[in-house]
Amino acid sequence: MVTAYDHPTAVIASAAGVDIILVGDTVADNVLGYEDTLGVTIDDMERHVAAVARAKPDCLIVGDMPWMSYHVNTEETVRNAARLIRAGAQCVKLEGGRKRVPAIEAIINAEIPVMGHIGLTPQSVHAMGGMRVQGRNVDGATALLEDASAITAAGCFAMVIEGVPDAVGTAVTASIDVPTIGIGAGPDCDGQVLVFHDVLGLGTRRTAKFVRQYANLAEDATKALAEFAADVRTGAFPGPAESYESSAELRQALDPRSGTT
Ligand code: KIV
Repeated sequence: MVTAYDHPTAVIASAAGVDIILVGDTVADNVLGYEDTLGVTIDDMERHVAAVARAKPDCLIVGDMPWMSYHVNTEETVRNAARLIRAGAQCVKLEGGRKRVPAIEAIINAEIPVMGHIGLTPQSVHAMGGMRVQGRNVDGATALLEDASAITAAGCFAMVIEGVPDAVGTAVTASIDVPTIGIGAGPDCDGQVLVFHDVLGLGTRRTAKFVRQYANLAEDATKALAEFAADVRTGAFPGPAESYESSAELRQALDPRSGTT
């Protein structure tokens, strides 16, 4: 699974053969310039899900429910999940363990499949006291196992496990019968997810320990744009190949020295 937030990134992810595109609320810090994911709204997510869906990617599209779109009451929760489905997602993802069971059940009752997300849940950044690895001690790990079990029983068809020691990723994956998708949760999860901009080196911020960067597109893009700017300044761009040809007649007619203009 990889995130994508718009038409071109969805086309690229689909062409690369990923199984799942997550239109993540990390659009906030990767595209929209926010410090964290809390600034992104259901309106933002609806727009980005629709842009991804218009690319018709050959994979599952998961619409991420942003902070405060499933925290107020059940009716609002279900309506917000439905907005992402109508925009083109086939399922939604939301963060949290046991306390999210009523929200998960209500969405599933509306025939919308739900992917869970436990461990380091970025929408809880302030409640967690920062972006901290979760489940580092036995009590914390046990709580995560209970969370995984509760949201599986509530009907989640899969779950993301983020930012936990590898043994916790292994134990959670072994303890439930739906697929786990890890991000900083070790190699034993059933699948793995990373943020598009992190994989491709397009981000402008420091990446987490769990990221493996496979390209440095920001560096390539900066170099390419600098070459373009230099070519414009020296007159090397545009050349004949990038210009529409003029007939001899037109040239002559427009030439002030010819006396016809
Ligand atoms: O929004 C997101 O990108 C995510 C992934 C990091 C799992 O939730």
